[in-house]
Amino acid sequence: MQFFVDTADVDEIRDLASTGMVDGVTTNPSLIAKTGRHFRDVIKEICAVVSGPVSAEVTATDFETMLAEGQGLADLAPNIAVKVPLTWDGLKTCKALSDDGTAVNVTLCFSVNQALLAAKAGAAFISPFVGRLDDIGHDGMELIDEIREVYDNYPDLDTRILAASIRSPSHLRQAALSGADVATLPPGVLRQLVEHPLTSKGLDAFLADWKKTGQTILSEN
Ligand code: E4P
Repeated sequence: MQFFVDTADVDEIRDLASTGMVDGVTTNPSLIAKTGRHFRDVIKEICAVVSGPVSAEVTATDFETMLAEGQGLADLAPNIAVKVPLTWDGLKTCKALSDDGTAVNVTLCFSVNQALLAAKAGAAFISPFVGRLDDIGHDGMELIDEIREVYDNYPDLDTRILAASIRSPSHLRQAALSGADVATLPPGVLRQLVEHPLTSKGLDAFLADWKKTGQTILSEN
């Protein structure tokens, strides 16, 4: 399973990338707005830090402008995945960009039928939003299960399932069990994955016993 990090904070991305856990990055207009910086500068910087796919989202809603924006974004770096919303214009843009060899991430997916449309339009990634479905009382993880099942029914579809709107380590665990190809994680959730009370307790006990020996590993006595 690949881990993408869902942020436009370049320092955060740089720090997490040094752990070797960051296979790619997703951004969206809200995350870019939060930086207070220019879209293209932020995206170019992220692409220089991470070699895997970096999703950059168009903000137009009509096909012609979306296509022009998508082409402009794709020109910024070779590892850009252009993100388009799941609308008919977005799907048309997905098809045109994908036919041209640009990776496209179709975002704001909330149903298995939408996921099928994106795959037929040639999307490299489909982004089902787990947390936002949970927010309205649905079971977001069921959608990941369903998309996995449907895509597996049609092996000619090679769109990868990118579990998005992940809000907790438990979401990640379930997405991995469901066979999502990728999960995009907010930095805080990625950092939480390492934590377990028994790891901390065990380490404290080892260190306390070690201290009693008075030894250090790197010296002779
Ligand atoms: C994914 O590409 C989106 O940027 C993101 O996962 C949305 O998450 P949210 O619903 O927590 O805002």
